[in-house]
Amino acid sequence: MKIGVLGTGNVGQIIGAALIEKGHEVMLGSRTATNEKATAWTKSNGPRASNGTFADAAAFGEVIFICLNGLGTVDALQSAGPNNFQNKVVIDLTNPLDFSKGMPPSLLPQYCNTWSMGEEVQQQLPAAHVVKALNTVTANLMVDANRVNDGNHNLFICGNDVDAKNKVKHVLAENFNWKPEMILDLGDIRYARMTEAIVPFWVAVMQAEKTPMFNYMIVT
Ligand SMILES: NC(=O)c1ccc[n+]([C@@H]2O[C@H](COP(=O)([O-])OP(=O)(O)OC[C@H]3O[C@@H](n4cnc5c(N)ncnc54)[C@H](OP(=O)(O)O)[C@@H]3O)[C@@H](O)[C@H]2O)c1
Repeated sequence: MKIGVLGTGNVGQIIGAALIEKGHEVMLGSRTATNEKATAWTKSNGPRASNGTFADAAAFGEVIFICLNGLGTVDALQSAGPNNFQNKVVIDLTNPLDFSKGMPPSLLPQYCNTWSMGEEVQQQLPAAHVVKALNTVTANLMVDANRVNDGNHNLFICGNDVDAKNKVKHVLAENFNWKPEMILDLGDIRYARMTEAIVPFWVAVMQAEKTPMFNYMIVT
């Protein structure tokens, strides 16, 4: 499959590399076609790897991962061109975190309580099927669920389109070892408010446990 990854940070690079290992073609998108980190990533990930602008990566992908800085997401999506996302499944894993006052982070006030980054992404890309997923785990766990408790822990997803959520479950199971029965569908994209709101709590747990390699497990 051709996959577009918008974002050249740690997360975009880890997601992209893991998908290439699984045999997909991946284009990493950035503000500039010659972004240094993206160009280095392409060189070290072989012939199925490429990089370009946000628009290039969005046009390339049949499925698109959004791995952007919360504050830059709207500008990045506008420059990517909303038409390039038409009818595509978009996996949004951004978090609207504000680290400007140090630790612990807070949520950006424009994306909390009654509005979320996930809803913003869906609003910016009205013709896409946005699924919020993976934002509640660290990048190395996103791409291999088996790294914690043999994969027995929960991933929260939400989005407006049932077929898109099923496709995301399939992509995560096939490529990143997420057990379908451990993926909890919370509802429509408004539930991104909740899955984003638990991320400052996640940071607190990470500080207490002194590792990012953990996850939540719901027990009933
Ligand atoms: N670290 C984790 O394990 C983890 C776990 C869950 C979720 N997340 C979330 O994943 C997302 C990506 O995190 P990250 O640490 O990999 O990268 P990041 O540094 O948060 O974001 C990097 C990307 O954002 C773009 N960007 C930054 N400012 C921008 C602006 N003003 N306009 C347009 N684009 C802008 C950059 O563009 P250029 O390529 O042009 O520089 C780059 O592609 C974040 O929302 C984070 O909260 C991270």
